[in-house]
Amino acid sequence: MAATQTSEAELDEIAGSVIARLGQAGFCPPARAAFPSEGFHRVRDLIVERFQTPDTTMTNLACRVLYGLAWASRPETVLGLGTFVGYAAAWLFAPGLPALGAYRARRLIACDIDPDASELARRNFSQLPGGEAVEVLHVDADRCVEEVEGPIDLLFLDVDSPSEGKAGYARLLLAIRPKLASGALVVAHDITHPWFQADLSGYRTLVKDRSLFTASATLGVDPCGLEVTMV
Ligand SMILES: C[S@@+](CC[C@H](N)C(=O)[O-])C[C@H]1O[C@@H](n2cnc3c(N)ncnc32)[C@H](O)[C@@H]1O
Repeated sequence: MAATQTSEAELDEIAGSVIARLGQAGFCPPARAAFPSEGFHRVRDLIVERFQTPDTTMTNLACRVLYGLAWASRPETVLGLGTFVGYAAAWLFAPGLPALGAYRARRLIACDIDPDASELARRNFSQLPGGEAVEVLHVDADRCVEEVEGPIDLLFLDVDSPSEGKAGYARLLLAIRPKLASGALVVAHDITHPWFQADLSGYRTLVKDRSLFTASATLGVDPCGLEVTMV
């Protein structure tokens, strides 16, 4: 039997049900917890046409869920750590760029240690209407966490370093915890990826600490997975 591919409309629907469930669980306002299909497809056309993305493991469904979550929760300040050329972060940033629709974010910050990737991220973001507002910091994530001004409303973790892989997520989250706003969301990429199970075991334990975080949900949107945690 020929394999069937999930259609765009079906992916929109699945993303809608993921966001709706996050709304029911209190991760974002239930009233806005629907998938903003029109906005997403407009942004996607721009990103596909204009971004240079040498490599990414972000799937079509994960991109939708990131966009829908930011659209629903409207974070004032968004920080991405390990943003490479900006592809994953773009879905979280786009709803906060007024020319693209939903609201005006106060600060959209992307951080990566790789100078060439940071340069390309800067170029990529500048291809989005109003995208010059995105601050691309070419800096080590530990230093960024130390120096960045809070409160942060949405944090995205995707740092994968040659020395420790993804094991830095837990340290970074603990270090930035005092700067996370009440109700802030933390989205960690690759939480279910088989390669990173050992690296991320400390992180999985940390997000279950109810003295630090209100709730956490593992979204099996693809083999990489997303962990969404609320302060
Ligand atoms: C998996 S890639 C990120 C992929 C990306 N988020 C995307 O849009 O598809 C991991 C990134 O972590 C960055 N990285 C590694 N060590 C870092 C560090 N100490 N501080 C900041 N970024 C770091 C790498 O340069 C790389 O771009």
